Amino acid sequence: MGKHYVDGIADIVSEKVNIVDLISSYLPLKKTGRNYKALCPFHSEKTPSFVVSEEKQIFHCFGCGASGSAISFVMQIENLDFIDAIEQIGDRYGIDLDEYLVKKYDTKGHEEQEQLFVINKVAAKGFYNNLKNNKGAYEYLVNRNLKPQTMRKFGLGFAPDEWDFILKNLRKKFTDNILEKSGLIIKRDNSNGHYDRFRNRIMFPIFDIRGRVIGFGGRVMDDTMPKYLNSPDTPIFNKSFNLYGMNYAKNYLGDNKQIVIVEGYMDVISLYDKGIYNVAASLGTSLTEGHGKLIERYAKEVVLLYDSDQAGIKATRRAIDVLRPFSVRVKVLSLKDGLDPDEYVLKYGKDELQKLIDSAQDAMEYMLNYYKEGLNFSIKSDIIEYIDRIRSLFNGINNTIEYELYVKRVSEETGLSLSNLVKELKYVKKIEKENDKLEEVVLQSKDVKLYQRLFEIFIHERSYLDLLKKKHDFNEFHFKILKEVTDFILLYDEIDINKSIDVLSFEEIEMLKIAKNIDEYIKVSNGIREVEKMYFELLLSDKVRLLEKIKEESTRVLSNIDKDSSKYSELKIKYAKLQHDINSQIAGINKKRN
Ligand code: CTP
Ligand code: MN
Repeated sequence: MGKHYVDGIADIVSEKVNIVDLISSYLPLKKTGRNYKALCPFHSEKTPSFVVSEEKQIFHCFGCGASGSAISFVMQIENLDFIDAIEQIGDRYGIDLDEYLVKKYDTKGHEEQEQLFVINKVAAKGFYNNLKNNKGAYEYLVNRNLKPQTMRKFGLGFAPDEWDFILKNLRKKFTDNILEKSGLIIKRDNSNGHYDRFRNRIMFPIFDIRGRVIGFGGRVMDDTMPKYLNSPDTPIFNKSFNLYGMNYAKNYLGDNKQIVIVEGYMDVISLYDKGIYNVAASLGTSLTEGHGKLIERYAKEVVLLYDSDQAGIKATRRAIDVLRPFSVRVKVLSLKDGLDPDEYVLKYGKDELQKLIDSAQDAMEYMLNYYKEGLNFSIKSDIIEYIDRIRSLFNGINNTIEYELYVKRVSEETGLSLSNLVKELKYVKKIEKENDKLEEVVLQSKDVKLYQRLFEIFIHERSYLDLLKKKHDFNEFHFKILKEVTDFILLYDEIDINKSIDVLSFEEIEMLKIAKNIDEYIKVSNGIREVEKMYFELLLSDKVRLLEKIKEESTRVLSNIDKDSSKYSELKIKYAKLQHDINSQIAGINKKRN
């Protein structure tokens, strides 16, 4: 939202909150001497090592090391970022944070948003209270196998079969204008006045990540169309940035930080009811970049569990595409018999579904199978077609081990030799590269020698390559020599220079060749440390070379721009920042090296 608070907002908020009071609302604290003690909420333990100091206003767990202020406690336990955490604390303790907002923040728009949150909250309460008095609605949810506590948890309610339930109850406090903006009432077409949008429907309040009601979905209780009616986009509701149920799910992602994405309200609720909690829904719309960002913020692994109908399959493919740029591992699960997750869990039970989730297929696997459909690998042109289809998938893989795995797999299924396949897959990538000036490398001779020595070691004592790879991310390098060559080494048991010609640059091939053909291999004498030393040496020169490149480029670019233009200063700052970044990377590497 582009919000900015004044410097020191953390202190301002902290001053108004007592950490003992705040943490007590999450877990029972026991006074021991001058401190308070509890079982740590951040790791499992039998004897309490979680301590809160009222004096210092901090917490610390002597078991797992978690520690911090009241704000960081809320950030960690609620899984919120800083702004969301202080705003949640602000809400709870009645601190008016608006007065600490800086810059030209649109306060009018902000007030309106606050009002919309209140309207939704009041409406949600109204709908919820109706449920008790409406037997039909309550029975409907019971028949859908939901427990009363689940209904409460998700704030399920009922909009009565009236034109003015909302109007009647909210007009006293809010103008028609703002009520209309909330999407809860609609202006009549050709006469004055308004009427309620949601009538005779089961109501699903939609929560944002902080648990505020931002909109509603309403479902009919029979087969009338449309089945679901949703709030329109409003100043506080945008389907593309919000995942239904994420406010709860984010706290249940577990050690592997896994989120299951489903299509519908009922899927989230029904799975929650049966004990699968790490589930959120994209609400029938396709997954967007906004969803991707939200997911990336909390999860490391996504399981796409869409309906197994045609629409669901299409949505799955699109979601895989959308999620590709994000650093999350994507998996896919399709259920049999065209069932949706809600139907599946009711028919086969929680354990069955959990098992399937645990064994979900990798997105890459799923896509390879998908692209294979309709092709016959005994026909040559079908193989070519297949490679064309899957090329972009392979270009998207950053992990060398994964790359190797799938290359081998495709080689097996198509019968293409590894070297031909790798060549085909890399074809486009190489052309793209040649256009990129920053990618040209001129190695210094000392680096050439170092690379050669490293490759020698990798060829003769492969375990050092495995070790080094485990400890370091070769993508740290800007110039990908190390990665390209080791990818190649890993792909084959025997190094065949001829094969390397297809995939490596001349310089790389030359170094590899010398490394392979040395007369007498001298073993590493000082273990992995010796290898690591070379690694850091090369990483340093990599950065130094990048720095030079950027200086060159900046001189070239800036000399063509008017010094007085704003573009000039903008670019100048950009280059300075780039150089600064690399310099601090260099400092970091130096530190690690010593
Ligand atoms: N949806 C919608 N409008 C519709 C149909 C569907 O907004 N007319 C959205 C809803 O968010 C719904 C999701 O798409 O939750 C998935 O639709 P669907 O699979 O048809 O509904 P279910 O979630 O299976 O709902 P139910 O089990 O109650 O039929
Ligand atoms: Mn359903």
